[in-house]
Amino acid sequence: MLTKRIFTFALMVLFAGSALMAQNFKYIGASKCKMCHLKPAKGEQYNVWLKGPHAGAMKTLASAEALEIAKKMGIADPTTDAACIKCHSTVGGVDAKLVASAKMAEGVSCESCHGPGSMYKGASVMKNKTLAMQKGLIEPTEKVCLTCHNEESPTYKPFNYAEKAAMIAHPNPSK
Ligand code: HEC
Ligand code: HEC
Ligand code: HEC
Ligand code: HEC
Repeated sequence: MLTKRIFTFALMVLFAGSALMAQNFKYIGASKCKMCHLKPAKGEQYNVWLKGPHAGAMKTLASAEALEIAKKMGIADPTTDAACIKCHSTVGGVDAKLVASAKMAEGVSCESCHGPGSMYKGASVMKNKTLAMQKGLIEPTEKVCLTCHNEESPTYKPFNYAEKAAMIAHPNPSK
């Protein structure tokens, strides 16, 4: 009986520990990924993202078109309203307590798809994919995209994963 209780207790400590760890993964922002993911020989992921559709998602919310959509929904300012920023910015879509240095203005950035980077950003962790994944790195699949590319978007367009993934592809050619 006693050993069973000790075992249960140990399990509880383990679970509490991992839940705590998960909460410690914080959003650090694309500028922190930039320094290592800028080399053309490795796919310059930062530049590809910057030129792609996601980096400008907050600028889009400042457009006349966005204002018109918002007005029809009774929203005064799409650039600050949760109903819009939750999909147009990484920071706008997560618990404020988990935001370290990520900025609202960077739009939909790396960590919306790859997970909060505070614990995996170190070079030695990054080089070990298994370890990086234990520390919050996500290998994105279609499921991640569908958290935003869905009918809740006021301008929803049907989402074909293969096609859309090709439009934002940023592979590492040296791999
Ligand atoms: C200190 C340098 C460094 C920083 C900072 C860094 N990375 Fe990395 N990352 C690497 C290295 C090294 C690899 C291994 C592949 C390579 O050599 O490019 C890697 C691999 C990756 C991979 C591929 C994992 C795999 O093996 O499939 C992803 C995704 C990734 N990084 C995302 C990010 C994101 C997102 C950030 C910011 C939150 C970030 N990285 C910050 C150095 C870094
Ligand atoms: C956090 C929310 C979010 C996630 C996650 C997300 N997107 Fe997006 N995506 C957006 C927003 C917002 C726009 C519109 C940006 C704009 O027009 O300024 C967009 C635009 C796009 C576009 C250009 C417009 C279009 O539909 O052709 C492509 C392509 C795209 N996303 C692909 C993807 C893929 C592939 C994934 C998953 C790997 C993904 N997105 C994940 C929010 C997201
Ligand atoms: C909209 C979602 C999305 C955003 C934003 C995004 N990525 Fe990715 N990333 C992906 C997908 C999807 C893959 C391919 C995963 C696969 O093939 O298994 C990928 C792959 C990678 C890889 C691995 C490349 C390889 O061939 O090994 C790296 C490194 C990477 N991303 C870094 C970044 C960095 C750094 C940023 C921000 C500057 C970023 N990504 C932004 C979705 C995203
Ligand atoms: C569920 C996630 C989500 C929400 C919430 C959301 N958007 Fe978007 N938005 C997207 C995605 C994804 C795109 C890319 C095109 C598409 O599929 O709708 C986009 C594109 C846009 C565009 C570019 C037009 C186009 O056709 O590409 C505008 C403007 C826009 N959104 C405004 C808004 C406004 C204003 C709000 C708040 C009232 C809002 N969005 C809320 C996900 C969202």
